[in-house]
Amino acid sequence: MNNVLLATDSRALLDRVHAAADGACIGVHASPLPTDPAVFLGQVRRTELPDIVVLDATQARPQAVALAGSFDRLFPGIGLVLVAEPDDSLVIEALRAGVRDVVPPDVTVEQMREVLARVGDATRVRRGAGHSGEMALGAASWDPVVDASGPSRVISVLSPKGGVGKTTVATNLAVGLAAAQPGSTVLVDLDLQFGDVATALGLEPESTLGDIVTHGGHQDPIALKTRLTQHSSGLLVAGAPSDPASADVVTPEHVGALLDQLTELFPYVVIDTAAGLGAHTLAAGDHTTDPLLVTSMDVPGVRGLRKELDALNDLGMMTDSRRILLNFADPRAGLSLGDVEATLGVRVDLSMPHTRAAVVSMNMGEPLTTRQPRDAAAKVLRKLQATYQGANAPRGRKSGKKVRS
Ligand SMILES: Nc1ncnc2c1ncn2[C@@H]1O[C@H](COP(=O)(O)OP(=O)(O)O)[C@@H](O)[C@H]1O
Ligand SMILES: [Mg+2]
Repeated sequence: MNNVLLATDSRALLDRVHAAADGACIGVHASPLPTDPAVFLGQVRRTELPDIVVLDATQARPQAVALAGSFDRLFPGIGLVLVAEPDDSLVIEALRAGVRDVVPPDVTVEQMREVLARVGDATRVRRGAGHSGEMALGAASWDPVVDASGPSRVISVLSPKGGVGKTTVATNLAVGLAAAQPGSTVLVDLDLQFGDVATALGLEPESTLGDIVTHGGHQDPIALKTRLTQHSSGLLVAGAPSDPASADVVTPEHVGALLDQLTELFPYVVIDTAAGLGAHTLAAGDHTTDPLLVTSMDVPGVRGLRKELDALNDLGMMTDSRRILLNFADPRAGLSLGDVEATLGVRVDLSMPHTRAAVVSMNMGEPLTTRQPRDAAAKVLRKLQATYQGANAPRGRKSGKKVRS
């Protein structure tokens, strides 16, 4: 079977190519069409390359032909098909650009099936002859995802105070999402000075956020992915700088640009933050679809969270899918869940108990949910994960009162 990447703005064409490829087709928008194949491929949240790229040239023919030409030079193992009203000049132009076939916009499913089979066979022969480019080509089959261009969820884990469980929640949630859907999730440690995401996951990142932003890696999706550190669950991590002094190189503008890029590449971006609403956290707030607020079960913590909720509302950074997690929930804390909710003025979505396994997992550098799946806190973390998955998990929309200037 051939894995197909199709650029088109036509839903009808997408449906026909999808059927012709027996579901092994990902659609991305054709407008605008980037000129750089790496940028084009970066739109798709997959690490493997397609076998065949189909470019709809009906809207922007010169751009499509130029992109095909660049593909042929940089990725000679990928077969190229152009969708356009065929006329003699186009066919010559397309063949010169390395295109294998030109099909009309009203191509039928059966015709497209034949074209894909022919082009797939031809490029397989070409690959076998050593034209595979630098990357492994078409090694794994794609899931039948029709449209990878939907918006990402950006889940920012926030609290006014430290030591309440942000890193515990962020790491376990991100690992769970990554394990459920390979290649889907990146975790960014925005606790730039004292971030401990890497420690919590037992990782020693070669590159950290400081390297990513100083090397401009965030401008090139493939270079960016190589600078992320992979966890055994498949989660990719952008770690915090290793010493507090070098955190200064990462500016709030860097954070915004990096998140722009990561949201193009991953369906889930999980962000662990430092306590409070510092400039970097606010920069992430502009991208956040799902704020996740964590508090411990004590009066100062809950009051602090009340103020943070107000501040986020005033800044227009609250969304209708924010969640509140009460950590260290304890019926003997001298404070009831009702008291907490009355102080906050909103419902608590999940309560997580204090467990010894949570402490041990952090110290061992292993996520609690995989180390002790039956632990009471692990169960709450899995429940939290489930709320972000599936069709019943609508993405957050900004419900802010004020627009930040
Ligand atoms: N539910 C829990 N039960 C027991 N220990 C927990 C729990 N949640 C967090 N911890 C521990 O509390 C400490 C602080 O948690 P952490 O996630 O680092 O908080 P933050 O990132 O908000 O500073 C860590 O040692 C962690 O293992
Ligand atoms: Mg932390």
